[in-house]
Amino acid sequence: MLASTFTAALVGVSAELVHVEADVSHGLPGFTIVGLPDASVRESRDRVRSAIRSVGLDFPPHRITVNLSPADLRKAGSSFDLPIAVAVLAASGQLSPALTARAVVLGELALDGRALPCRGVLPATLASRAADMDLVVVPRGNVPEARLVPGVDVRGASTLTEALRALQQGSEPTPLPPAAIPGGAQVDAPDVADVQGQALARRALEIAAAGHHNLLFTGPPGAGKSMLARRLPGLLPPWTFEEALEATAVHSAAGLVPPEGGLLPLRPFRAPHHTVSTAALVGGGSQPRPGEISLAHHGVLLLDELPEFERRTLDVLRQPLEDGVVHLARATRSVTFPAGFLLVAAMNPCPCGYRGHPRRACRCRPGDAERYASRVSGPLLDRIDLVVQVPPVEVEALTGPRVTAEGSEAIRARVIAARHQQAGRQGRVNSRLVGAPLDALRRDPRVSGLLAQAMTRLDLSARAADRLLRVARTIADLGGSTGVERSHLAEALQFRPC
Ligand SMILES: Nc1ncnc2c1ncn2[C@@H]1O[C@H](COP(=O)(O)OP(=O)(O)OP(=O)(O)O)[C@@H](O)[C@H]1O
Ligand SMILES: [Mg+2]
Ligand SMILES: [Zn+2]
Repeated sequence: MLASTFTAALVGVSAELVHVEADVSHGLPGFTIVGLPDASVRESRDRVRSAIRSVGLDFPPHRITVNLSPADLRKAGSSFDLPIAVAVLAASGQLSPALTARAVVLGELALDGRALPCRGVLPATLASRAADMDLVVVPRGNVPEARLVPGVDVRGASTLTEALRALQQGSEPTPLPPAAIPGGAQVDAPDVADVQGQALARRALEIAAAGHHNLLFTGPPGAGKSMLARRLPGLLPPWTFEEALEATAVHSAAGLVPPEGGLLPLRPFRAPHHTVSTAALVGGGSQPRPGEISLAHHGVLLLDELPEFERRTLDVLRQPLEDGVVHLARATRSVTFPAGFLLVAAMNPCPCGYRGHPRRACRCRPGDAERYASRVSGPLLDRIDLVVQVPPVEVEALTGPRVTAEGSEAIRARVIAARHQQAGRQGRVNSRLVGAPLDALRRDPRVSGLLAQAMTRLDLSARAADRLLRVARTIADLGGSTGVERSHLAEALQFRPC
């Protein structure tokens, strides 16, 4: 007898539905899985057999063939256990095949028949909705994640038996639409008000958040670079439901959605250590998993101690910084992960850290500083719009009376207003401004004079000039100005690499 159900396979951060057909026929007992299963899926046979027996059902003593299609899609992981078990039970008359034919089933099985959570449930549920499937059965622990997708009949099961019961139930009422995105600040993010002094660096954080400009802090040890960088997430505007869903899908594909949690509550903040491998940073593996840059999608990626990262690893960032996505080529098929992050980086100006320090001498040999800085390649620096020299904190700022600086909440209000202006005017953030609008800015008589002067005096490349103009545009937006004035460009000139 033949019966079938559906499951899903992850391809990047999206999922494709996989048809699971089971054929139970007379002949020598055996259990084969065909349709490009990898070793982990072939192991499924033992778990399925054992789980079916453990819960007191019959494992048919016949010839069982399970076919997974499309055949050219590589299937990996353990989430195929439950759908295979369901298809086998339906094909052996222990469950009506009509109940399984339009269902999507996901989950790993323990030998005792428990259904264990798996990764990729959110993308799988999105794919099920797109294909207009009747219902989705997932391990209990994955229910909050699956319920994020409105309009899908999601049912949870802690065991194989419960999964069968879930398939037999009448249709459940459509789940409630997901809770609104909390409109408040990044509640966990530290506040900029903690930073004493450092007006220029604080301003750079505001501009970075407002125009989505990548940012680099350079300065001596203890200047507060790391402290400042960690305060960037708290300045970003609240995210939309769609953004939150996309970011959650990345985490789901990486198996990083906490069981109790549905949507990620906050924009992600990722700060990988400089010893991170290239694969962990940009993604990789034979069944590619998203890396740090994708986990930071719609959030902030902090690369602290930038020159300490492997040069090779940093070079791989160029493409994602440009396109907001990362392509990983694989023998079977290549996958694309989203990687729309805001980069904030920090570094010392030289190996000892004190080059240019007003009170301490640099102990490096001639040439050391240049070599150190050159570890961060030009093409990467080209994608950083704002460079800020962070001076050592003035003693008075830390020992004198505490000055209450403006907090993140107030700055964030200006950031939100500036983002609205950009969305209304050009439908994209200023850091992504290209083509005609940028050209018009370059030729605008209000700024062209100063721009030409700066380009000549500072020997700026055309690309550097474009970066200046983008930053000036953001400064104008923060000031609520429709046009970019000379003063905006003059301020932008402070954030240039030297
Ligand atoms: N402007 C400041 N206001 C208040 N505290 C500060 C300030 N700057 C530095 N600090 C204090 O000094 C500590 C060290 O700062 P931080 O780690 O950010 O320095 P850094 O510039 O990243 O140094 P390194 O180059 O060694 O990484 C902070 O945790 C904070 O307590
Ligand atoms: Mg630091
Ligand atoms: Zn030095």
